[in-house]
Amino acid sequence: MYIARAVIPQSFIQDLLARTDIVEVVGRHVQLKKAGQNYSGLCPFHGEKTPSFTVSPSKQFFHCFGCGAHGSAIGFLMDHRGLSFIDAVKDLAQQVGLQLPESAPRDAEAASRSRGLTELLDQAAEFYRAQLKTSEVAIDYLKRRGLAGATAARYALGYAPDSWQPLRAAFDNYDDPRLAEAGLVIADEGKRYDRFRGRVMFPIRNRRGATIGFGARVMGAGEPKYLNSPETPVFHKGQELYGLFEAQEAIRLRKRAFVCEGYMDVIQLAQAGFGESVAALGTAVTSQHVTTLLRLTDHVIFAFDGDAAGRKAARRALEATLPAIGEAKRASFVLLPEGEDPDSLIRAGGAPAFEHQLEIALPLSRWFIKTLSEGRDLAQAEDRAALLTEAKPLVLSMAPGALRLQLVRELAEAARTPAEEVERLYGIAAAPTPMARRQPQAPRSSARVEDLKSRILTNLVAYPELAREFNAQIAAECLDSEQQIDRRIVDVWRAATRGAANSGALLEALADSEDAATYRALAARDMLQEGDGEAARADLAGAFSKLELARVEAEKDALARVIQDGATPERIDRYRELVEQHTRLKRALAGLGEPGVR
Ligand code: UTP
Ligand code: MN
Repeated sequence: MYIARAVIPQSFIQDLLARTDIVEVVGRHVQLKKAGQNYSGLCPFHGEKTPSFTVSPSKQFFHCFGCGAHGSAIGFLMDHRGLSFIDAVKDLAQQVGLQLPESAPRDAEAASRSRGLTELLDQAAEFYRAQLKTSEVAIDYLKRRGLAGATAARYALGYAPDSWQPLRAAFDNYDDPRLAEAGLVIADEGKRYDRFRGRVMFPIRNRRGATIGFGARVMGAGEPKYLNSPETPVFHKGQELYGLFEAQEAIRLRKRAFVCEGYMDVIQLAQAGFGESVAALGTAVTSQHVTTLLRLTDHVIFAFDGDAAGRKAARRALEATLPAIGEAKRASFVLLPEGEDPDSLIRAGGAPAFEHQLEIALPLSRWFIKTLSEGRDLAQAEDRAALLTEAKPLVLSMAPGALRLQLVRELAEAARTPAEEVERLYGIAAAPTPMARRQPQAPRSSARVEDLKSRILTNLVAYPELAREFNAQIAAECLDSEQQIDRRIVDVWRAATRGAANSGALLEALADSEDAATYRALAARDMLQEGDGEAARADLAGAFSKLELARVEAEKDALARVIQDGATPERIDRYRELVEQHTRLKRALAGLGEPGVR
């Protein structure tokens, strides 16, 4: 059953996280050792021999410096055990003895800006779903394509009526600019109309079940065959996989994931019993896609259409997989028979037809050699040299390790060259060096306003418990601004003052925000610093004082120029006031040990 994330009130999530200890949750799956303020262990998301996986009890957040995996206790359960958001929450709730609210009313925060777009998209999906029930043509179309009602329900398929503004019936305010921002409405020279009209709707959901976009198919002839949502703040094609929300449970249970090309392929595979299927969204498979899947399972299997486009997509998927694959992980490739896609294969031969293809799937190393050997005559020295040259950047894109070693061996064999010589040719003959740890560069001395504000944002993400202490400053410096950085500071501050007491809880509160990735990256980066709340508090105080100083200084200088043209008593008074403020702030800053603005 599909339950949107919004069904669980944010207050419950926050309450739950406040009673959860991430060290305990992670410690059940990973052996952790105390290291300074944090705990560390071998990362469960990639193969490693020296620990780069860190868990912070104060931030309630984990981060791996090796593979970049990070998140809260909820995120850990989702990624490590392949649980859905709801199941991860249920699991934690059970552990701390909290009762999951059955179907709670939407909480007030649901209306907040950070949730806005996915809420609108959820509402649109709900509308399209209801429309499908009354559209005979659309129901007929799906039936003709062999879909059962239950399958359509599982994927929440819908129908967008064939008129200019069907969504007028779904929203009170059709002129809301957020509808255009969500990609639902097109605003064109004063005219507004629905993007999706007269099409079967495939909602695209994130891993937590929130709708982030749509694919929409014409039923007859017409271009394009599939119309997709544009990139929006919540929809990034290079990151999202169609069907992942529905597939995650099966991926965990079956310990494998299928990646195919199309919406209908995913759905048809699921209907035939292969629920562990996803698709890249009308774009090439990216390393991010592969990384996402390899966090859930150890084995990713690509199934590509047997046509020119499929062959090209398979090559791109190979290139995307090499940098993402680590030891103890596997990728396999299937190129379907000419003219077939998983949908047509299953419609003609059922599940056995697909099973048969799985039996003849090639492992990554074999696929690599096969792909690169295509069109070459390896009996010729020149062709063997070309093979080695073409393979070089691909080999170098892999992390050093056992898999790369094996791949080089097979390549060497195909090129009839000793493996050591290939390694020398590629400059990888030396023993692999452990991955260097990147040190974050904290812009400490620069006093530019942007830098000050990013310092503030970073500190607030790392120590949301400090947010309340700076209510006045945030109101004065950030609240009325349209700047992205100010908007972010205000969003974090709002979530923090509503009860998110540590980074993990904060990131959950902002999980559906358009800036969620930024916040996660900031929290992860701060894990490198063995900082504490005291240092952050001082840093925040210093940064706000400098912002104020910069503001006062700018007004003082501007007024000085005005006074040169005409000094009125009011202007002189105001100028004196500003000079006093300026002196006071400078003194305060000296007390904080901060250098002045200039
Ligand atoms: P295909 O052209 O192979 O379509 O495109 P399909 O999946 O077999 O679709 P059906 O079976 O005719 O319904 C593969 C995928 O590429 C994207 C879609 O994600 C599609 O599922 N695509 C294709 C688009 O985004 N837009 C298009 O116009 C065509
Ligand atoms: Mn098809």
